[in-house]
Amino acid sequence: MKSTNKNTYVGQLANQSRKIWVFLKYFNSVRLEYLQLVFIDDEPLNGQKKRTQVIREIFGAFKPSLVIETGTFLANTTRYFAELLSVVNPAGKVTTVELNDLFHNVSVGKLSKYDNVECVHASSNAFFGSAKLDRRAHTVFYLDAHWNDYLPLRDELKEIVSFGESIVIIDDFKVETDVSGFGYDDYGNVIGRLDLDHISDLLDEFRIFFPTYSAEEDGGNRRGVVFLSKGDAAFQVLKRCSELSEFTQGAT
Ligand SMILES: C[S@@+](CC[C@H](N)C(=O)[O-])C[C@H]1O[C@@H](n2cnc3c(N)ncnc32)[C@H](O)[C@@H]1O
Repeated sequence: MKSTNKNTYVGQLANQSRKIWVFLKYFNSVRLEYLQLVFIDDEPLNGQKKRTQVIREIFGAFKPSLVIETGTFLANTTRYFAELLSVVNPAGKVTTVELNDLFHNVSVGKLSKYDNVECVHASSNAFFGSAKLDRRAHTVFYLDAHWNDYLPLRDELKEIVSFGESIVIIDDFKVETDVSGFGYDDYGNVIGRLDLDHISDLLDEFRIFFPTYSAEEDGGNRRGVVFLSKGDAAFQVLKRCSELSEFTQGAT
């Protein structure tokens, strides 16, 4: 059996060296993971062309002063929002919220050159509960915090109801009117699925809009989406959007 005598000078040195080596190995693997993620430069909004066009139109007409994204991931969409907002409302701010340590840290680095962006490291429900937000501002919400056992969408909407004029965009959502094959997130009966059933009791104050374009026209990852308006100004913006159509429950 191989052993090191910790009581001798050589034994102590060997023991220390092993600890340093284990630490460096861990540090390097973490750093490598970090660097790999920093250099991923994907398109915003899942690379979906029509969605990007609609969101550009919404920002131009609504001129939000606050954009809140839940689920930063690698900040690809956050960067797009920051650039778009600096054009339509230079005084506006983007706040993006991420639960995962590594994704948050990578995003802080990627977003450091944008002075209109704040990165928050939290679960989105905790963020809404604690952040001091101007609930009267024209606000665009991009709700994209999923992947884990807890789906925060319902808790997010319960907070958003207390905001004034707002447009809520939920990614990976089932397009009820779709026959073209948009995908959506389904985490089963216990966690839930991103569809109208999951949130129907929370929608009294919102008008619902779905895309009129097809998954093929949209391209990219072809993920479904829903657009909600709260307040008259927000409703007028979505109503005038040529690529969206209002959905009323019971209609197909
Ligand atoms: C689909 S990705 C977001 C993609 C990003 N919005 C984009 O367009 O590139 C989902 C992200 O939500 C994060 N997430 C999951 N649950 C969360 C929660 N409760 N609060 C905040 N972020 C969460 C995940 O760690 C992951 O980074």
